[in-house]
Amino acid sequence: MQPIYLDYNASTPIDPAVAAAMRPFLEGHYGNPSSGHWAATRAKAALETARGQVAALLGCHADEVVFTSGGSEANNLALKGAFFALRDKGDHVITARIEHPAIVEPCHFLERLGARVTYLPVDGTGRLDPDDLRKAITSRTVLVSIMHANNEVGTIQPIEDCARIAREREVLFHTDAAQSIGKIATRVNELGIDLLSVAGHKAYAPKGVGALFVRRGVSIEPLIHGAGHEGGRRAGTESALLAVALGKACELARDLAAMDRVGVLRDRFWQGLQQQFGDGVVLNGHSTHRLPNTLNVSFVGRIGAQILARLDGVAASTGSACHSGRIELSPVLQAMGVTPHVGMGAIRFSLGRSTTRDQIDAALERLTNVLAVAG
Ligand SMILES: Cc1ncc(COP(=O)(O)O)c(C=O)c1O
Repeated sequence: MQPIYLDYNASTPIDPAVAAAMRPFLEGHYGNPSSGHWAATRAKAALETARGQVAALLGCHADEVVFTSGGSEANNLALKGAFFALRDKGDHVITARIEHPAIVEPCHFLERLGARVTYLPVDGTGRLDPDDLRKAITSRTVLVSIMHANNEVGTIQPIEDCARIAREREVLFHTDAAQSIGKIATRVNELGIDLLSVAGHKAYAPKGVGALFVRRGVSIEPLIHGAGHEGGRRAGTESALLAVALGKACELARDLAAMDRVGVLRDRFWQGLQQQFGDGVVLNGHSTHRLPNTLNVSFVGRIGAQILARLDGVAASTGSACHSGRIELSPVLQAMGVTPHVGMGAIRFSLGRSTTRDQIDAALERLTNVLAVAG
């Protein structure tokens, strides 16, 4: 039985073009990009080309791109960096209840340091109401961080509206775009944001690399102090190898045409599930404001983890986790008000560039068999 990978929101394979771009840096070009001699030249040039490729995807200046170790570090740098830099101005941060732990945990950390954090609610589709943001901003608010698209259900937030509200009140706006790069447009000026996080391994680059867009004029306190790498915003000798990978991945991510095909396959899967299971299956997330590759569905009255365990060779994720012997709904589904009866049966299928129609049809058939056996 062929394995079927439907967990692209967890991680993507390295694109062959990305691997090819990395190869010369595995085998040579070992110089430190900051050195002043011949061995540095190639590494330094590659680093700056890669920075330009990330900037081209985001529609920003190259000097607004800071390389990081991934999405988590980019989020930590944005939240803590802005909070520490603006301590004299205020102590209030606003985020949402459906954020990734790489936002929630830095917020909890800042709360331990005395920050006040407002967690905005979302509706049943996982979307927040920009008016709630408007009401939550105070004269002490220093930063708003709202994710672009949710990793579990794929719901896309009204970022442009939220960013406009923050800008009117002269509050910095950050968005975690780890899940949206290469799936939907992520141009910073169209979104109107000041800070944006990128995670390489969600977009066909390797794990361990990411970036933070920091708008010119926005100052953040670095998390890692040292020599003045990355414009003084993140110390540590840059890895040309990983930067080149992210740069190439971002170049590929500019072409969103593949996502049209992925969206068609995702919808085929959903229609097939509805035909097979009728009212026994429900969609979690927004029907239209949703990533084209993401399908989070609940098999009503069932346990998603048990279905997945029997779904031989199909890699996907559940919306619930087992804590001390009890199955608990994910915080995202809880925030959306999904009932345990529905939410326990949640499975996230996320498709990618290499997903084929045959794989979708085979996954549907395996699901039908597993659920038929389970009665
Ligand atoms: C929305 C979101 N933000 C941040 C991250 C963390 O990114 P990384 O794994 O590169 O640290 C993830 C990864 O799961 C994510 O889905």
